[in-house]
Amino acid sequence: MTATTHYKDWPNDAGFNTEIEHRDPIALEVTGTIPAYAAGTLLRTGPGSHKLATKDGEFACSHWFDGFAHLYRFELVPTDVGNCKVLYSSRRQVDQLIERVRKTGRLDGITFGQKRDPCDTLFKKIKTKQNAGVSISANVGGFLSAKEGSKANLVTFTDAAVMKTHDPETLAPLGVTDQTTLHPSLTGEISCAHPEFDPETGDVFNYNLKLGSTPVYRVFCTSAATGKTTILAKLSGKDAKAAYLHSFFLTQNFIILCIWPSHFQLGGAGILWRRNILDALAEFDSSAKTKWFVIDRRHSTGIVAMFESSAIFAFHSVNAYETAGKDGAIDIVCDVVQLRNLDILKKFYYDNMVSSAPAADKRGFDLVDGKDGMARYKLSGIPAARNSPARAMRRTGAGLPTINPAYHTKPHRYIYGVGDRRQSSFHDSLVKMDTATQTAETWSAPAQTPGEPIFVADPTKEKEDEGVVLSVVLDGLSGHSYLLGGAEVPVAVGFGFHGTHVKL
Ligand SMILES: [Fe+2]
Repeated sequence: MTATTHYKDWPNDAGFNTEIEHRDPIALEVTGTIPAYAAGTLLRTGPGSHKLATKDGEFACSHWFDGFAHLYRFELVPTDVGNCKVLYSSRRQVDQLIERVRKTGRLDGITFGQKRDPCDTLFKKIKTKQNAGVSISANVGGFLSAKEGSKANLVTFTDAAVMKTHDPETLAPLGVTDQTTLHPSLTGEISCAHPEFDPETGDVFNYNLKLGSTPVYRVFCTSAATGKTTILAKLSGKDAKAAYLHSFFLTQNFIILCIWPSHFQLGGAGILWRRNILDALAEFDSSAKTKWFVIDRRHSTGIVAMFESSAIFAFHSVNAYETAGKDGAIDIVCDVVQLRNLDILKKFYYDNMVSSAPAADKRGFDLVDGKDGMARYKLSGIPAARNSPARAMRRTGAGLPTINPAYHTKPHRYIYGVGDRRQSSFHDSLVKMDTATQTAETWSAPAQTPGEPIFVADPTKEKEDEGVVLSVVLDGLSGHSYLLGGAEVPVAVGFGFHGTHVKL
């Protein structure tokens, strides 16, 4: 691709450096109409700032996944006239870390992709990566409540095997616990930034990965009712190499752990001296296989089927569900946004995404060129299948995929996501995909950078796509953000990763 400079016309810097907090909620000016049924709270994670003034000048985080954690809260309150007013608040999550970086000029501990001076030998103590909150969930069953006497909790998850709790009202950080508090065998360093939740019971599913010469995955369930954690399967050996897995799949009866070949070198031992996840990954081997493990989550029978497909990398599963197969067997459909290699991890360096950065015009997500993008896999003949091929069925493009949450683990038709039309150095559109017709609708406006869309269904309607999409959009011209639908924030909201819409 030839170098261009037009990304400067789609400014987005403000969304990457937002130190400003609003600890006390402010009422936003609502210029549009947000329907009353959207009442609830939209919570969003995200790095706020990534640059800090230090005693010697400036410190900058290299990679988006290491930016300083910040939470954002939009409370949608129904009014007498059938719409919602919006109360906005936000809070930094790592003030002590920020202070330390200001003083030392360094980001210590294990990071996702911080570039460091190789002579920097001051690192002595292994600290788990604890900065970024990637996904956020409220009222997580089986986890400690946020406050004495309160049933509500707010938990953020990241790629490390830790959970961070926050006050659901004030967003104040409350504490960090590791997964050994759930079960003593969960001693691994890595976990999934996107746990899965049973849509009926609220039970929490995740994996814990112990790195080393013999890496071990433990797939577990924490009961929402009792808080008890059960190990559902233990995976190790040549088919279960240590890999960077940002999501997995849940159906009504199964967990599908898909180990795509984003393998760590040396079983991940390299994280300890490389001190970041990105540099500890092996070079992507496009001849390696993607391994699919189907794990029973109802009857303690462990791995019931295995499948193979060609090499992919992915961040986000979209949804998975079961259908009737041949001779009484079960088929599983898995939708995932897949990529042909690990290049996207490097595209998330700030230097490639911030519109004013010198390298910004060199990047671009390749989600629209037919090789990367949404793919549908079918795992057929469960429980008998062993080493069967997993078939990729169809493709189309979008990132940060979401669906109507009522369709989680059920057959869905519509997928929402952010799109890249190569108009900016970051996302530049919202996309609604129809998997039945394989068509897509796009929303885009000059210099407007949207975040992950969250669908809220209209409870009086029946169709899957009848509702509204909540997305926080940066107006690159004013440097301020707004909630799509017309609620103006007086500052920029940090471009974050994920959010959730809940009734707290
Ligand atoms: Fe994610």
